[in-house]
Amino acid sequence: MKHSPYAQQISRRKFLASSTVTSLAMLAPQLALAQSSMPVRQIPGTDKVLPIVGLGSSKVVTGIAENGPAPLEAVLEALIEHGGSMVDTWPRNVDNDGAFGEVISQEGIKDALFITTKIDQIGKQAGIDQFEQTLRLYQRDSVDLAQIFSLTDLDVHWPSLRDWKEQGKARYIGVTVSQEALYAQLEAFLKREKPDFIQLNYSIAERMAESRLLPMAADMGVGVIINRPFMNGSYFERLRDMPLPEWTSEFDCNSWAQFSLKYILANPLITCVLTETSNPLHMVENAMTASSQLPNEVVRKRMAKYIDQV
Ligand SMILES: NC(=O)c1ccc[n+]([C@@H]2O[C@H](COP(=O)([O-])OP(=O)(O)OC[C@H]3O[C@@H](n4cnc5c(N)ncnc54)[C@H](OP(=O)(O)O)[C@@H]3O)[C@@H](O)[C@H]2O)c1
Repeated sequence: MKHSPYAQQISRRKFLASSTVTSLAMLAPQLALAQSSMPVRQIPGTDKVLPIVGLGSSKVVTGIAENGPAPLEAVLEALIEHGGSMVDTWPRNVDNDGAFGEVISQEGIKDALFITTKIDQIGKQAGIDQFEQTLRLYQRDSVDLAQIFSLTDLDVHWPSLRDWKEQGKARYIGVTVSQEALYAQLEAFLKREKPDFIQLNYSIAERMAESRLLPMAADMGVGVIINRPFMNGSYFERLRDMPLPEWTSEFDCNSWAQFSLKYILANPLITCVLTETSNPLHMVENAMTASSQLPNEVVRKRMAKYIDQV
């Protein structure tokens, strides 16, 4: 199997050599430069853009309880230094979310990130309470994107999200799914409402969104955020000990992570892909894949066929 060049690149970084993580605030002067180094895609219907690889922060934020905030800081530093900005979040508990809020509120960092949150409660008031608590813990007057998690209590929460957008508490609003069983419900929702974003699962190994939802979102001018690019890790288990095929060198692919990410990023209908990681090495690899050579349509078909056979 080929070895990723990114391990070598990041190994010289101080934050990996020490358990004391460089303060994110120290990065502030570099941010303008870093932010321009990752390819971006337009947020439909706006003149704003988003860097195409983001962080799914679920595990690293949950891990604050056990490991403190340093691992989160290291992953965020890797994201920001390589031009990324989107951080997808999901309220968990007051201690974790409060610590997360401390980290993302550091001077010079606050404005570098595109912060999302989700509502996963049942009942209108419970959703409102959850959102207000998130704003308080994140130390923000607004989030960049408020989403309804997995279409939970969808018709109850959607008017609240519209209110928050109107009130300036959420710049954009949307809904998420992460399994095909919810696609029909998402499609029905898109026939009656127009969110700014949908978030859904899509990868080299989960391609069902290609047939209907991705073209539908594009036709409607809805932004698309991708989750499960590695099927929450089960993609790697499936490919464990398998070498990359030789022909992947034709599009500069050096790892199975890049294999799925490049497949996703080569699809022009997506706006941003979230990669969940607690490992700064992986964050750097994922971020740098955004700027790498991407496969053409012929190669993408070959990739899909290959994955279907293993
Ligand atoms: N319904 C919803 O709203 C919903 C549902 C699911 C997910 N999401 C969002 O999507 C995000 C993505 O999460 P996911 O569940 O879909 O996970 P994922 O990104 O598909 O996979 C995460 C796994 O991949 C590993 N990984 C990441 N980069 C790697 C690399 N370069 N090389 C090797 N391993 C790598 C991670 O391990 P390491 O930590 O060791 O890197 C982790 O085990 C979540 O954090 C969340 O924000 C939303």
